[in-house]
Amino acid sequence: MKEKLAYLHTWGCQMNVHDSEKIAGVLKVEGYALTDMPEKADLIILNTCSIREKAEQKFYSELGVLRAMKTKRPDMKIGITGCIAQQEGPKLRKSNPHVDFAFGPQNITMLPDLLGGEKFQARVEENPSVHLTKLPAERQDGLKAWINIMYGCNNFCSYCVVPFTRGRERSRPYADVIEEIEALPQSGYKEVTLLGQNVNSYNGNCTFPELLAYINAIDGIERIRFVTSHPKDLGGDLISAMKELDKVCEHIHLPLQSGSTDVLRRMNRKYTYEQYLDGIRQLREQVPGVAITSDIIAGFPGETDEDHEATVSALREIEFDGIFAFKYSKRPYTKAKDLEGQVEEKVKSDRLNHLLKVQDTITERKNRSLEGQTVEVLIEGKTEDYHGATECCVTDGCVADADPMTDPNKNRMTRYTGRTRTNKIVNFVYNGELRTGQLFDVIISRGFKHSLEGRGPDEVQCLYPGM
Ligand code: 5AD
Ligand code: SF4
Repeated sequence: MKEKLAYLHTWGCQMNVHDSEKIAGVLKVEGYALTDMPEKADLIILNTCSIREKAEQKFYSELGVLRAMKTKRPDMKIGITGCIAQQEGPKLRKSNPHVDFAFGPQNITMLPDLLGGEKFQARVEENPSVHLTKLPAERQDGLKAWINIMYGCNNFCSYCVVPFTRGRERSRPYADVIEEIEALPQSGYKEVTLLGQNVNSYNGNCTFPELLAYINAIDGIERIRFVTSHPKDLGGDLISAMKELDKVCEHIHLPLQSGSTDVLRRMNRKYTYEQYLDGIRQLREQVPGVAITSDIIAGFPGETDEDHEATVSALREIEFDGIFAFKYSKRPYTKAKDLEGQVEEKVKSDRLNHLLKVQDTITERKNRSLEGQTVEVLIEGKTEDYHGATECCVTDGCVADADPMTDPNKNRMTRYTGRTRTNKIVNFVYNGELRTGQLFDVIISRGFKHSLEGRGPDEVQCLYPGM
């Protein structure tokens, strides 16, 4: 029988990306191969995000394009999943009659049923055993694997739709998590990223630091990462685990959201700026070189110029390695959408740009401070196969600028790319053969805003002596 083709488009967070890997796993069992050409697909699944209005708009505009395609090819099926599917449920069909089915992120197991259905169905009921399901993931990456350790969120930050789209917090039993991770090294995986909305409140018959210790003992896994941590639950035991467990990487994503304690209170974040700062101090004391990244919201309802300035000075005081910053966006069901003092669009944009500008300088300065240091890089691939210019050179001020077409040294150097334990991208040249998945010490020669440039620790000779 001819293999059927499915086109899968994913928006949003790592949780969604990994859900799509599970959807791809289910589709494979159902006889579908993935295609990147929607016009050729028998089935289109859109995995949606509703965290901000902009993400929703992107989805609705693609759905509009698909309407014309469906008119031409009425046999093609269109399914919607992810947070918008959960949020809108059967309503999605009303204004979009070309949608064949919808299912929420907790109901991926329903997909085979939905594929066979003749009538429109929306499966968006809460699935109390979502944390016990085991679905075969078709992972996109061969080196780094996403692993769900929990689903849902109980925090109800006042701006956030996630508790409404992903349901109550449920932790997977640690034995299931371990079983899934133990199977990875034989397929070449070296790194795992544990996923949850609030990983430090994990409770799957052990605590989160205990889970980290179990995973740390798995042969073949070299690096362990986790997202996202909530500052209110950043305990000393997690910090100790980061300090003591050799595979747990020195990076934490710890969303601050605002530098104003008043705004934090209205966001229902359950920590003050001072408490957050205290957590950062402890982390930096105990885990040398730890990279800290964060999320910031600009223009939360009621945010004054002083509140905004408090966030700017927080960025300067903390010096994050990087931030994701967003304009506040009204979300259905949330408390903040009804708060007084909604901030004007223009003010939100100005504040966002200000935050990003301040942080850019800090990020670049931090990356430059790594120049001369040796860092461990997990090699993810090769970039170019010729020596093109000056990056390889150990000597400052090298002016070599070889033409890769005529240069006799071409192909002598290879550019590799990978990440540090602190999750920074490193591009480096090396005149030896390295494998994807290998850990390799690299000396950082330059720090930029979005990446680092480096070279291998030995065998580096200038190919253009005397220039
Ligand atoms: N508006 C803007 N940003 C939001 N986030 C969550 N909800 C909203 C919203 N309504 C941001 C937070 C969160 C990140 C994943 O998305 O900063 O940490
Ligand atoms: Fe949203 Fe807060 Fe839960 Fe994160 S912790 S998903 S911001 S409600």
